[in-house]
Amino acid sequence: MRLLVTGGAGFIGSAFIRLLLGTNRATAILNLDKLTYAGNLENLEALASDPRYRFVRGDICDAALVDRVLDEFPAEAIVHFAAESHVDRSILSPQPVFDTNLRGTFTLLEAARARRIGRFVQVSTDEVYGSVPEPLAADEGFPLRPSSPYSAAKAGGDLLALSYFTTYRLPVVVTRASNNYGPYQFPEKLIPLMISNALENRPLPVYGDGLQVRDWLHVEDHCRAVAAILERGLDGEIYNIGGSRSLDNLEVVRKILRATGRSEELIRFVTDRPGHDRRYALSSEKTVRETGWAPEVGFEEGLSRTVDWYRDHAGWVERVKSGEYQSYYERNYGGRDLELNRLGRR
Ligand code: NAD
Ligand code: DAU
Repeated sequence: MRLLVTGGAGFIGSAFIRLLLGTNRATAILNLDKLTYAGNLENLEALASDPRYRFVRGDICDAALVDRVLDEFPAEAIVHFAAESHVDRSILSPQPVFDTNLRGTFTLLEAARARRIGRFVQVSTDEVYGSVPEPLAADEGFPLRPSSPYSAAKAGGDLLALSYFTTYRLPVVVTRASNNYGPYQFPEKLIPLMISNALENRPLPVYGDGLQVRDWLHVEDHCRAVAAILERGLDGEIYNIGGSRSLDNLEVVRKILRATGRSEELIRFVTDRPGHDRRYALSSEKTVRETGWAPEVGFEEGLSRTVDWYRDHAGWVERVKSGEYQSYYERNYGGRDLELNRLGRR
């Protein structure tokens, strides 16, 4: 299969390209990526000279460029990962989220419609369901209640994609995954940020009381699921992809401190994220039943491998943390009250 992958220089997109070419499930892949702060060609260094792999730097909002790319590379399917993916950044600056997650998705859908592309995979997130109250787990029919500009724009992208199936019979599938972790994740998300701060003996900023719950999914399990849905998913359907491992943030942070051999003294409770979703919980029963996929990487094993990866890739971490990262860190954490106690008071 010839694939156009968008956002393939990011954390999950690069893992997906490595998986598909590594297992010969794609004959050719063109990676269209703008190389924002989160895009990094180092993530695909091993494939740089692979004749099956091509890279084009470009913005998915640029309709003329997307048309040119697809004219030169007649893809059979589009797997759409490109996004502004971080909730905190979407709170600080919502404009890029609207541009890429909504307008960029529209541009790709239009290009796919014009060419009658054989499959369009909209890679989305469980955050579109918003906070899920105990003891529920969101299935694919759960109401959409996104809380942040990031998740609202992702929900908009999903609805637009599904409308292209209903209206134009474009063979769209939507995947909604829970929190990913693993190698090459930009150290703005909880797990890589805490690992890299711990390895540098810097404070670990825990939002609010740290008891928010997330369902952790190893990036390789996520990519195996997206590949299974690309190959076997039914047109117009939504597929949830959960890791089946719910933990609160403090439990995760404590596991990271143990794995890095650091003390809990590094934990700092800081001002909470505005609109912070308390709990994500996902039912992946449909995906398991209809595609045969199931997560394979246990959280403790996956976390230990991830800590080892960050320890062994200090150069990669140093490079992605230089420049823009420093100003982002200051903007996001500089104004936060430090040293709050568990109840959010000094
Ligand atoms: P990431 O931030 O690591 O990578 C995003 C990539 O998209 C980068 O390479 C960036 O350069 C590229 N990009 C951004 N804007 C672009 C544009 N306008 N044109 C072309 N390229 C652009 O993100 P990620 O964590 O790998 O997430 C990938 C996808 O998976 C996203 O759609 C995200 O919503 C979804 N997702 C992520 C998670 C998670 O836990 N990280 C969970 C569920 C779903
Ligand atoms: O659920 C899927 C989503 O998971 C994806 O769609 C998003 O792209 C991805 O960023 C992630 O969103 P979260 O907001 O859940 O992930 P993040 O790693 O930013 O935060 C995880 C939890 O940790 C959340 O409750 C906020 C908390 N946190 C995060 C950071 C960065 C902290 O307490 N301190 C921090 O410094």
